Amino acid sequence: MSYGFVQLSYIIATALFVLALHWMNAPATARRGVFAGVAGMTLAVAATWAEPVVVHHGWIIIALLAGVAVGVPLSLVPLTAVPQRTALSHAFGGLAAGLVGTAKYYLWFGEGPENLTAYRMVAIIVEIILGFLTFTGSLMATGKLQEVKWIPQRPVTYPLQNVTNFALLAIAVVTGVALILHPAAAWAPAVFPVIIVLALVFGVLLILPIGGADMPTVIAILNAYAGLSAVAMGFVLDNKLLITAGALDGSSGLILAIIMCKAMNRSFANVLFGAFGQVQQAKASGEEKVYKAETIEGAAQVLEQANLVVIIPGYGMAVAQAQHKVRELYDQLKKRGITVKFAIHPVAGRMPGHMNVLLAEADIPYTDLVEMDEINSDMPQCDVALVVGANDVVNPAARTEKTSPIYGMPIIDADRARTVFAIKRSKNPGFAGIDNELYFSDKTWMLFGDAKNVLGELVKQLSGGSGMH
Ligand code: TAP
Repeated sequence: MSYGFVQLSYIIATALFVLALHWMNAPATARRGVFAGVAGMTLAVAATWAEPVVVHHGWIIIALLAGVAVGVPLSLVPLTAVPQRTALSHAFGGLAAGLVGTAKYYLWFGEGPENLTAYRMVAIIVEIILGFLTFTGSLMATGKLQEVKWIPQRPVTYPLQNVTNFALLAIAVVTGVALILHPAAAWAPAVFPVIIVLALVFGVLLILPIGGADMPTVIAILNAYAGLSAVAMGFVLDNKLLITAGALDGSSGLILAIIMCKAMNRSFANVLFGAFGQVQQAKASGEEKVYKAETIEGAAQVLEQANLVVIIPGYGMAVAQAQHKVRELYDQLKKRGITVKFAIHPVAGRMPGHMNVLLAEADIPYTDLVEMDEINSDMPQCDVALVVGANDVVNPAARTEKTSPIYGMPIIDADRARTVFAIKRSKNPGFAGIDNELYFSDKTWMLFGDAKNVLGELVKQLSGGSGMH
């Protein structure tokens, strides 16, 4: 294929990537966005394959088969496992970039020192540091999210942790600079692996102090690193598509991380070094707080008499896969002329858009999904706030308790509704590991149990006993 044709394909692929990101902004166009991304990537692979520099087609076929063998099972994981699946993809991306940089260095070294220009060396060093640290960092993130036994979920902290970590990174960078200045020195090939090892170790140490609840944000940051290492790889390989695709990947990861940080009212530094989610000290008061439980019949009666019901879904709805039962309850309430809205917190669940995806799967109209800022003004008029497996995102401590780790995080004001029903299985806290005053409030009634079961019972009660008071 001619050079011009390959470059044209790259431009079209880039345009498809931009459109994919744009369409993924709204649930209504998200599916189109996925197709555009797949089309762009297919075109990118095909055009790269057609490049005249490709001399060994057999290796490419083996790589494609290996990619399919790993990619297909990865695409079949349940929705709740998507964050760790995404982290695993970043690990692969980082490893690929790191390995390509390493191979290119030794290849060019062997072919003669004139190949190792300062420009190429800067790109290679950036590529391997970011690539390898993304590799181990993302593997750690995957392990924490998958709750792998030998990787601690809680933040692991020790004295001088940040100093040690950054000293390590600084040594890697200084060694990298030495290599950029003397790429063809006799000692250079022996020193190159030192940078790799330091980057690999730094990736592990970077993630150790970060708790599970912060992992989605960290994954987005690692996404940005993986994107940047792909940009560097594009410079190393002189491939413009890699540069644009890497830049899109990196910047979208960064923007996503910023959105999540804003939604939690936290800074990057706090996410990376805040050791958020450590086990909280037990409150000094020592008095046992009381939960009031409600029966299904009682809850159904109150729901039937409401004018406005706001359903607040959280991570528990995803765990229980209760979205279809939520839909049935929605139908039952709508049948009675009750206004039903869904309050969507930007970080409810474990990934951005988690609740939107689940509710869309259950065919709940987008128009009834209301963003946090908008729904909060309606909460004082809300007769029943039905919390379905949410915890941190409705914790009033975020507004009132200065010492709380979630202080300042915007929340859905469930506590301002007239009555609150909360569905959860136990008295356990949410991901931030802290108690929730909402559940001890006078107006809150607990419906203990798995969300799918409790909602199923409620629907049964409403469909069997409609009109019963
Ligand atoms: P959480 O605070 O994690 O609370 C979920 C609640 O669901 C738990 O209290 C749990 O209580 C309950 N639950 C679990 N399984 C259940 C089941 N099968 N049936 C019924 N209830 C069940 O969730 P949230 O309110 O959605 O908050 C999300 C958290 O993740 C926040 O801390 C947020 O900052 C963090 N986070 C999210 C993101 C994104 S992008 N979404 C990114 C970074 C951090 P029981 O165990 O008692 O059932």
